[in-house]
Amino acid sequence: MSKVNQIAQSSFTANHEIYDRVRPSFDKDGVAFLIEEVMHLKPGAKVIEVGAGTGLFTETLKPYDLNILAVEPSEGMRESFKKRCPDVEIVDGDAYSLPVEDGIADAVLVAQAFHWFADSDAVKEFRRVLKKGGYLGLLWNNEDMEEASEVQRKCVELMWSYDSIVPQQRHNKWQKPLNESSQYFQTPFQEKKFKTSRLINKETVWPMMLSRSYITSLSDDEKQKLKQKVDEILVGAPEVIDVKLYLLVAWMQAI
Ligand SMILES: C[S@@+](CC[C@H](N)C(=O)[O-])C[C@H]1O[C@@H](n2cnc3c(N)ncnc32)[C@H](O)[C@@H]1O
Repeated sequence: MSKVNQIAQSSFTANHEIYDRVRPSFDKDGVAFLIEEVMHLKPGAKVIEVGAGTGLFTETLKPYDLNILAVEPSEGMRESFKKRCPDVEIVDGDAYSLPVEDGIADAVLVAQAFHWFADSDAVKEFRRVLKKGGYLGLLWNNEDMEEASEVQRKCVELMWSYDSIVPQQRHNKWQKPLNESSQYFQTPFQEKKFKTSRLINKETVWPMMLSRSYITSLSDDEKQKLKQKVDEILVGAPEVIDVKLYLLVAWMQAI
């Protein structure tokens, strides 16, 4: 049986169009830091991107001219990916059995996805496909609750009250398998944060929530109740909301 989380599989297959439309891109400085300063990747370097989704992160790699193979288990996500990144090869696959031979990759990159497969089997598989000295790089956009306005804070806290049914980056369970991988990688993992923000229209708040797997998987009735609460928070809010985020970048080098 597939080890891919079933909520991830069904939700991302159902919501890929909304996801692609409303989710944020990735801070350019944070991406440049990882690709150039940490990994020293040169044009043509072989990269396996795992859980590539609709290509929101893949797109930010364009300036580096890398040789990317994107791997993604959700058919819907792959469909949107082909529209956003038509020049990048994407294949059906998952983090536990990457469809490539041993030791070919300079880097394995995972954006907004490692929490779905944060275990020792996936980490071992990443090491299998990496060259010695190659890098595993993980990235996540996160809500910056220290900087958030009251409207953002209330919406995010409401949304998070539904997220206990799925693995999420903010639950921090992803750190353990990384730090327990000293037979494969230099441990502990390292990390750096980049503060960022984006302006969204008030109308985008609800689709943003709907793009979360754990909201997609609610019943219509539950969604309706949640939407009412969101609408109440948004009464009197500005038309344009300044959403405060930070990009978390984490990495380890293969030994
Ligand atoms: C939140 S999306 C992130 C997509 C994209 N990387 C981005 O940054 O927008 C998480 C992705 O991980 C994928 N995923 C979930 N479980 C996976 C697994 N076991 N192996 C590979 N990808 C997986 C999902 O299908 C989904 O496309």
